[in-house]
Amino acid sequence: MSQKTEIPEHTVSVNTEFGIKSALHVPAFSERSEYVPALDEAYRFDPEVTLSLLAGFAHNRRVLIQGRHGTGKSTHIEQVAARLNWPCIRVNLDGHISRLDLVGKDTITIQDGLQVTRFQEGVIPWAMQRPMALILDEYDAGRPDVMFVIQQILEQDGRFTLLDQNRVLHPHPYFRIFATTNTLGLGDQTGLYRGTHSLNHAQLDRWNIVSTLNYLPAAQEEAIVLGRVPSKNTEQGKHDIQAMVALANLTRQAFSVGDLSTLMSPRTVITWAENCTLFHDKRRAFVVSFFNKCDESEQNLVKELYQRCFNEELVPSDATA
Ligand SMILES: Nc1ncnc2c1ncn2[C@@H]1O[C@H](COP(=O)(O)OP(=O)(O)OP(=O)(O)O)[C@@H](O)[C@H]1O
Ligand SMILES: [Mg+2]
Repeated sequence: MSQKTEIPEHTVSVNTEFGIKSALHVPAFSERSEYVPALDEAYRFDPEVTLSLLAGFAHNRRVLIQGRHGTGKSTHIEQVAARLNWPCIRVNLDGHISRLDLVGKDTITIQDGLQVTRFQEGVIPWAMQRPMALILDEYDAGRPDVMFVIQQILEQDGRFTLLDQNRVLHPHPYFRIFATTNTLGLGDQTGLYRGTHSLNHAQLDRWNIVSTLNYLPAAQEEAIVLGRVPSKNTEQGKHDIQAMVALANLTRQAFSVGDLSTLMSPRTVITWAENCTLFHDKRRAFVVSFFNKCDESEQNLVKELYQRCFNEELVPSDATA
C-alpha cells in the first residue's frame, strides 16, 4: 500500500472544507493514497450527518447512517474521507459476502515449485491493521454469519481473533468503521427493501452514533441536482429542476399515504436530469428514468402528478418510450 503516512499530521477546518458553520478542526492526512476516494467538488454536505461522520473520524466512534435509498449515504462517507485524505474501502454486504471473505482463508500457492498452503487475510484483518475507514454498505442485507464476524470489531477495543491462526489483531489507531443501512433493525416495513434482514439489537447497540439521512428540503435537493448537471444552470433549467424536485416530493407523499408503491429518490432525480441532457426531452427522460419503473395500475396517478408540476401532459405516446 502506498500510504506513506500512518497518522494524520494536520487538521482541516470544518467550515472551509465542508461549508458548515463550525469552529471545529478535524485530523486529516497530508498525502492522498490510492485508497482515498476521488474528490467530488459538487458534493453538498448535510450538516448533521457530516458532524456525526466527523466525530467518527476524529474520535473513533462507530457511525451508522440510515435512510431511504439514493439519499447519498454511501457517497457522503466517501466524500468526507476524500476531504480528510483518509483511505477508505467500501464493502457491500450483499448476500454473496461470506465469513471467509471477511476473515480470510487458506489458499494453496506454488512457491519454488512446491505447493504451499498460505493464509490469505480477508478484508477485515487487512483493513484494521491500517489507517483506513471501512464502510459496511447495505448493513441490513448482511447474512447472520457475517454479522457475527463484524460484531467483534464493534467492541470498544475492537480486537479481532483469527481463530485458524491463533492470532489476535489489534486495530490500527486510525482504523475507522462506518455502515449504511436502509432499514433500522426492525426489518423492512415499506416493501421497498427486499433482501434486508432485521438486525440483532445487541449488534445495533454497538454503534455509537446513528444518524438519519433522508430527503433534504427542496432548495437543497435542487442545488444538489444543479451541481451534478451544470448544463441545467439556465433560467429554464432551474425552473425545470424546481418542478422535478416538486414532483419527486409528490411521489414521496403519495408513497407515505399508500397511493404509490414506489417513489423518486434523489438519485432518480439526478438520473432524470442527466437523461434530459441525453434525450433533449424532459418527458421522454422522465418516462425512462422513473415512469417505466412504476406499476401499470399506478401510472395514471404519476401522469397526474407530472401534469400538476409541469403544466403539461405526459402524453401517452411518451409512455411507450
Ligand atoms: N449531497 C449530495 N451532493 C451531491 N450528490 C449527491 C448528494 N447526495 C446524493 N448525491 C448523489 O446521489 C447519488 C446517490 O447517492 P448514494 O449512492 O450515496 O445513495 P445511498 O443513500 O447510498 O443509496 P442506497 O441506499 O441506494 O445505497 C450519487 O450519485 C450521489 O453522488
Ligand atoms: Mg448506498
